Amino acid sequence: MELVNGYTLMKYSENKKNVLPAFNTTNFELTHGIVKGLQLSQKGGYVQISSSNLELSSPYMIKEMVDFSMKKLDVDVPIALHLDHGKSFADVKSCIDAGFTSIMVDMSHLSLSENIVEVQRITEYCHYFNIPVEAELGAIGGKEESESLSESEGKTNPNDVNEFVSLTGCDLLAISIGNVHGLDQKPDIDFPLLQKISEIAKIPLVLHGGSGIPFEDVRHSKKFNVIKVNYGSDLRKELISTFGKAYEINHNAFDVKTLSKTGIDNVAIAVQNIMNNIN
Ligand code: G3H
Ligand code: ZN
Repeated sequence: MELVNGYTLMKYSENKKNVLPAFNTTNFELTHGIVKGLQLSQKGGYVQISSSNLELSSPYMIKEMVDFSMKKLDVDVPIALHLDHGKSFADVKSCIDAGFTSIMVDMSHLSLSENIVEVQRITEYCHYFNIPVEAELGAIGGKEESESLSESEGKTNPNDVNEFVSLTGCDLLAISIGNVHGLDQKPDIDFPLLQKISEIAKIPLVLHGGSGIPFEDVRHSKKFNVIKVNYGSDLRKELISTFGKAYEINHNAFDVKTLSKTGIDNVAIAVQNIMNNIN
């Protein structure tokens, strides 16, 4: 099976009434582990990479890796390839050129009016190619672009939601409601705020910072039109600890191939665990 368009995956989530997981990759091991985990759990989802992580490779390399894994593992579940925290028009354009099927544009560091202008411009471009756009309103706490934000500074203001969604034309809205990036801070989901936003937004919502959010909260958030939850740190930890543990035991263990294979399997197990618990 080939990659599916982002709209197709959103429709799949609507039909199955499933939250879609979106797993962050950086390199081959993470990519292969994610695709393997999705296939073994027999449910669809996203492979995604952020603008900052693309520094290590390129959109073409990532697309090639996902295609390779899907072919090698004979994948028969729907997977979309998504740009996460897209930080520039150039990144969006190169990902679409490379064959990404879904886009996020993150201009949440700008003022509301500048955020709207930038997202509107990029949405128009993506829609020309029939590619859905996720945009962020409010700043998600934790470590993003190595900048730490305190949770209250960045929560999504429900009074901005209608204007933002209608003027930008975005298809999915990433919100800040006590969810945090990384593992340093504890998330604390503000459900009354989520409910308020979902009543105004009328488009599907996205939760970033999935690592650390109790599965129960993820399942509950489905009631408020959350259809996509991002997971990064949980998988990175699996891969890095595979190498770290082996090195701790034996400083002369340099079998990268075997450790990479084990790392892939550990990532795939973590993916399956998430898949089994969020729906
Ligand atoms: O965009 C990526 C995610 O929001 C990942 O967050 O590392 O806390 O799971 P996480
Ligand atoms: Zn994020």
